[in-house]
Amino acid sequence: MSELKKIKDELLSKFKEKLDLSEINQIKTDLFGKSGKITLQFKKIGTIDESERKKFASDLNTIKDQLQKIINSKINEIENAEIEERLKKEKIDITLPERPFVRGKIHPVSQTIDEISSIFSEIGFSVEEGPDVENEFNNFTALNTPDNHPARDMHDTFYLDEKKEKLLRTHTSPVQIRTMLKDKPPFKIIAPGRTYRSDSDQTHSPMFHQVEGLHIDKDINMGHLKGCLNYFIKEFFEVKKIKMRFRPSHFPFTEPSAEVDIGYEIKDGKIIIGEGDQWLEILGCGMVHPNVLKNVNVNPSKFQGYAFGIGIDRLAMLKYGINDLRAFFDCDYRWLNHFGFDPLDVPTNYRGLSR
Ligand code: DAH
Repeated sequence: MSELKKIKDELLSKFKEKLDLSEINQIKTDLFGKSGKITLQFKKIGTIDESERKKFASDLNTIKDQLQKIINSKINEIENAEIEERLKKEKIDITLPERPFVRGKIHPVSQTIDEISSIFSEIGFSVEEGPDVENEFNNFTALNTPDNHPARDMHDTFYLDEKKEKLLRTHTSPVQIRTMLKDKPPFKIIAPGRTYRSDSDQTHSPMFHQVEGLHIDKDINMGHLKGCLNYFIKEFFEVKKIKMRFRPSHFPFTEPSAEVDIGYEIKDGKIIIGEGDQWLEILGCGMVHPNVLKNVNVNPSKFQGYAFGIGIDRLAMLKYGINDLRAFFDCDYRWLNHFGFDPLDVPTNYRGLSR
C-alpha cells in the first residue's frame, strides 16, 4: 500500500504545478501505459502471497480509479479554461452596423413566363421543358420540315457541327416531338424556353423566348384553339374583351395554319391592347399536321389537335411598356432595377407558379 500511496502523492505534487494538456497526457502514459507504474503493479498481483493478494488487488483498483478521476478532472479543468479564454476573445459586437443588403429583382421575361404558365395551368395544361441544344430531327424533320425544305432557310439556324445534326433550337416546337415520343396521348402541354436564330436588330435578338402549346385528344378542333387563345390573351393582358383575328398562314407542322393578331391603339403615347383598329401579330398556330403525328407514332385517324407558338419577349414588351428588345439581354443593373419585379410584391394576375 505504501508504494501505491507514494504513486498517488507523487501525482498530487506534480499537479500542484501548472501543467498543459501534453504534460498531463505524458503523466497518464507514465502511469497507465504499457510499462506505466500502475500497469506494473497489476502485473505484480500474481507474485503476491495469497493471503495478501485479494486486499492488494482491491487497493490497487481503488487507487487506479482515484488517479484516473484526478487526471480526468484536471483535463476537464484545462479544457474549460481554454473555452473560457476563447469566449472572452471572441465576443460578438452587436453594435456593429449590418452589411449592406441588396434584394434582387425578377427579370420581366421570367415574370412573364410565370404568368403565362399559371394562366395555362388553370385550364389544364402542364409545363414541359426541352434542351437548348437540339438535334436536327426534333427541330425540323419530325416537324414535317424535311431537308431542303425552304422553311429551314427562314430559321437562320445556328448549327453546332459540320454535319448539321446538332443545333441551337430555332423554336420551342421540338418539345412537342419530345413530349409525344415519351408519353401516350392525350397531350395538353405548354413548353416555355429559350430559342435561337442568327438575327439581331431592335425587334430581334439572337436569343429570344417562346412558349409552345400542344393539345392532342380524340375530338379537338379549331374552335378549341380559338377559345383557348382568346382566353389566354384576355387573362394575360387583364382585359375583359379582346379584338383578335386569325390570318391564314403556313407552317409545315400545322394544317391549316394561322397567325394571330390582336387589336390595339396608341392613346397619349401609350399602347392600349384590345381596342382600336391597328393589328399586331403575336403568335403562330394551327391544327397539328398528320405527318407530325405519324412521326411520333400517334395515330392521326384517332387523335388530332392544335398547336401554337407565342413570342414571349414581345408579350412582355407590350404588357410592361418596354420598347427595345435588346435591353432584356444587356444585363444593365439599372434597367433591371427599374423594370424588374420585387419577389415579394407580385402583380395582380401572378398565381404563384414557380419558375
Ligand atoms: N414554331 C413556329 C415559329 O417559331 C411558331 C409556331 C407556329 C408554333 C405554329 C406552332 C404552330 O406550334 O402550330 O415560327
